[in-house]
Amino acid sequence: MANVTVIGAQWGDEGKGKIVDWLASRADAVVRFQGGHNAGHTLVVGEQVYKLSLLPSGIVTGTLSIIGNGVVLDPWALKAEIEKLTAQGVEINAENFAIADNCPLILPLHRDLDGLREQAAGSGKIDTTGRGIGPAYEDKVGRRAIRVCDLAHLDALDSQLDRLCAHHDALRAGFGQPPVDRAALVEELREIAPYVLQFAQPVWKRLNTVRKAGARILFEGAQGVLLDVDHGTYPFVTSSNTVSGTAASGSGLGPSQTGFVLGIVKAYTTRVGSGPFPTELEDEVGQRLGERGHEFGTVTGRKRRCGWFDAVLVRQSCAISGVTGIALTKLDVLDGFEKVKICTGYRLRGKVLDYFPAHAADQAEVEPIYEEMDGWNGTTAGARSWADLPAQAIKYIQRVQELIETPVALVSTSPEREDTILVRDPFVD
Ligand code: GDP
Ligand code: IMO
Ligand code: MG
Repeated sequence: MANVTVIGAQWGDEGKGKIVDWLASRADAVVRFQGGHNAGHTLVVGEQVYKLSLLPSGIVTGTLSIIGNGVVLDPWALKAEIEKLTAQGVEINAENFAIADNCPLILPLHRDLDGLREQAAGSGKIDTTGRGIGPAYEDKVGRRAIRVCDLAHLDALDSQLDRLCAHHDALRAGFGQPPVDRAALVEELREIAPYVLQFAQPVWKRLNTVRKAGARILFEGAQGVLLDVDHGTYPFVTSSNTVSGTAASGSGLGPSQTGFVLGIVKAYTTRVGSGPFPTELEDEVGQRLGERGHEFGTVTGRKRRCGWFDAVLVRQSCAISGVTGIALTKLDVLDGFEKVKICTGYRLRGKVLDYFPAHAADQAEVEPIYEEMDGWNGTTAGARSWADLPAQAIKYIQRVQELIETPVALVSTSPEREDTILVRDPFVD
């Protein structure tokens, strides 16, 4: 039976959480495979609003939810998020929630370093979420991470701590900070260990069992392809691979299992943090998009930068991530615009480009080439069927899919779970 991999096809905040929550009722398991609590997803179900950062969005429907090895896990953030959701009536227990025992931990020293680096970076500031994501991934690749399974062996941590502290103490000294307090760190870990360990297991094994039983697995990506550490707007990216290929390595199932790749695409463009953004609008149109779309970050509350839909970027993301079909979200935010624009190419020093170049200077310099379309009378907000959409809105959707060379599988017309139009069920072969 088919599995589905959900990824963001822009700079994050495309509405992945809403779509994963909607799809979760058709899935038997939902797996996060990269990123950490830098993600922020808002789910709206009737009167209830759920904000998730680290937990898979499937947890709200009670679907088996798994944090894969590709995630970096802050144990204290995990506990706080579980407590918050439990208070909202979401049931989370060792039956419906599991964490990969080989998942690397985000420690307080990672958060410290993230902050210290950003403060010192001057004009090179990335504007990270400040949650220690980058430093934690560096330690994983540097083979000095403390992982979930280590929490069961805290008395045998000396050689790992030697390696970890040799690295961090040197960096901290450079920032005028005291060395890592090893005893305090171990004590903090000892305190949180039982909480994390109740959910820890070899999830690759559990997923394999689930797969063999013919269950449907939904892989949940965080961030977006343009924040991918290889393919994104480097260096203004996050520190993980956000592309669909990561679903396999970040969960412990092979690439043959990732199934239908559903790219989540906002009907316009937003970005939070620094970095190039060709279609950014710093005028009243950008302002209006931000207000209508409530474009404030879930994690940091930062205002998101807004601009017209960039078909060049999304075409590139869809190609790089092998997107089978897209979910077009927030179409309702474009309701009431007399004219809407789509970027169809770039001009760079007299040349026309049909792709986004790799160098940051070129990325900053490209000028968008726009195509203008009439907006629509009437509203798409809350539409649940194709027939509810104004003809001109359908034309916009059709133009988008033509330009990005990828079909539309779903359309989302409000934050509410059920305000979703199904064009092609991604779980059906
Ligand atoms: P994610 O990080 O990709 O999960 O997206 P976020 O949750 O950070 O940001 C998307 C925001 O848009 C959230 O506040 C959602 O509730 C909201 N949203 C999702 N889909 C729609 C939609 O179709 N229309 C409108 N108006 N809002 C939406
Ligand atoms: P979701 O899953 C939007 C951005 C940060 C910063 C850069 C690096 O909600 O779509 P990091 O803390 O990861 O080292 O920051 O990446 N960023 C996001 N932007 N949505 C996200 O997640 C993001 N996660 C990280 O703003 O520019
Ligand atoms: Mg978000």
